[in-house]
Amino acid sequence: MEKQGGRRYGKNHEIRDSRKKRVSSDGKGGKPDYTKKQIWKPGNMLYPVPAVLVTVTDGAGNDNVFTVAWAGTVCSDPPMVSISVRRSRFSYEMLVRTREFVLNLTTEELAEAADYCGVRTGRHEDKFAAMGLTKAKASRVHAPLILESPVNIECRVTRILELGSHDLFLAEVESVSVAEALVDADGRLDLSKARLAAYSHGNYHVLGRTLGSFGYSVRKKQATPAKRTD
Ligand SMILES: Cc1cc2nc3c(=O)[nH]c(=O)nc-3n(C[C@H](O)[C@H](O)[C@H](O)COP(=O)(O)O)c2cc1C
Repeated sequence: MEKQGGRRYGKNHEIRDSRKKRVSSDGKGGKPDYTKKQIWKPGNMLYPVPAVLVTVTDGAGNDNVFTVAWAGTVCSDPPMVSISVRRSRFSYEMLVRTREFVLNLTTEELAEAADYCGVRTGRHEDKFAAMGLTKAKASRVHAPLILESPVNIECRVTRILELGSHDLFLAEVESVSVAEALVDADGRLDLSKARLAAYSHGNYHVLGRTLGSFGYSVRKKQATPAKRTD
């Protein structure tokens, strides 16, 4: 890992350099040095991740909600997701029995509920009521969705893989519900308005500042329109 110091900076480099300053981790514009490393023992360090509110049912009238950070998108076609769940969770039994769940995306307003639902068990209480979460009927699965969440992803489990501490539930997405408030007149979803929450190494954060959109690093700057001569 070679330092840039002493190099003659071209114009492009200056631009990259100023971007780095704006995202520096000390928040003061200083450049942190990430080139010196400590080697740690193997562990989970892939951050940030979502901390989704996962809703489940036992199919006999009892619903539950718990928080999952080990969740991911795993396939585009068919649309598939995964969640990793410890067998000791109360929700685990419901997942295995019904093989259905709903992922409810977490926002700034729902971060406290996500924390609560991740530290209390539904064995002894109704976490929906405790956190003021409104259950609503999902369109394709029996597990309820949470109305306060801007996006609800209904999933059907296709495979359960025993990995070790956690079992991985691979699931196909059956339906996605999106809050109308985030959809413009042309049907475009603006998820940046939702103030989604992310989980990173023990802390919850809210997404706020857009750095660019897909492909912005290679997108051509809009050419200056040619002057009309007529
Ligand atoms: C931020 C956060 C993320 C979590 N991620 C997971 C996870 O990915 N898998 C899991 O099994 N438990 C996870 N948990 C723990 C469960 O949500 C927690 O044990 C919960 O109380 C289980 O609820 P239940 O017993 O009602 O099913 C997480 C907890 C928190 C706070």
